Amino acid sequence: MAADPWHFPRRGFTAPVLKLLGDGPGQALTLFGLRRTGKTEFLIKDIAPLAEQRGHRVIYASFWQAPLSPLAVLLHAMETSLRRGTFGDRVRRSVLGLTPTLKLSAFGAGVEAKVDLTALGGRPPDDLLVHLDDLLERVSGRSKATILLLDEVQELVRSGGNAPLVAALRTGLDRRSDRLRTVFTGSSRDGLAAMFSARRAPFFHFATPIDLPTLGAAFVDHMIEMFRMVSRRTLARPGMLSAFDRLHANPHFFRVLLDTLLHDPHLDVEPALARVP
Ligand SMILES: Nc1ncnc2c1ncn2[C@@H]1O[C@H](COP(=O)(O)OP(=O)(O)OP(=O)(O)O)[C@@H](O)[C@H]1O
Ligand SMILES: [Mg+2]
Repeated sequence: MAADPWHFPRRGFTAPVLKLLGDGPGQALTLFGLRRTGKTEFLIKDIAPLAEQRGHRVIYASFWQAPLSPLAVLLHAMETSLRRGTFGDRVRRSVLGLTPTLKLSAFGAGVEAKVDLTALGGRPPDDLLVHLDDLLERVSGRSKATILLLDEVQELVRSGGNAPLVAALRTGLDRRSDRLRTVFTGSSRDGLAAMFSARRAPFFHFATPIDLPTLGAAFVDHMIEMFRMVSRRTLARPGMLSAFDRLHANPHFFRVLLDTLLHDPHLDVEPALARVP
């Protein structure tokens, strides 16, 4: 995947997180960040490339309002990671839409089963949970741990119907704690707590909680520089720092502000700010 020039790399955070994940005693992290603060960007554009560069297999799956069941999302992400192509290719392909029929390759030697993913509602069939375990085995790392990036994982506890999947996932990850390492993200503290802090939950105390750091002046500087390269207009730093502050240091809203300014070259920052929803 060609690097996104607008992406601000979280340099001081990525390597320590990967180190903690790869070499630390724990097998998983939960990464909390409020809505639109950059969790998904961090997983896909910071952690994944660095992890791949260091020889880890990386698998990304998002449970956020997925049209398919969480099990289908997970099986699809793992199946595609076994095919050729870089992480970036796979993410691009999954953005283009999940194929409603998944060819499951692991049912016996050389036998392929086709499963209609859209029909996977409610309680997952037991043989697919066995298949999940089989796939976890096949994707797990040999010399380097495989990194699973599971985005918006609090969605899994919204419905009781996911309980067998959550339990199977917990067991599958636990059995391979040195070969599979996971980052779970969530934008709801309550949702994450229900999954990782409730005494009766399968993932009780399974992961080390970390917070996504708030972006600061270095992010604003990067954006001012990108804006200058694209538009030849230099935005005054104090005004942009203050705007970022007023947007609660939220990268999404700050980029909406920049888009507004790009769209209308004669607009000043103050009126543009008033247009940010
Ligand atoms: N490091 C970054 N560099 C540049 N832009 C960023 C960065 N992080 C976030 N953004 C901007 O903020 C937007 C929101 O980021 P992202 O989707 O990663 O947030 P999120 O926390 O995953 O949100 P949600 O809670 O909706 O899943 C991105 O689309 C991008 O425009
Ligand atoms: Mg996200």
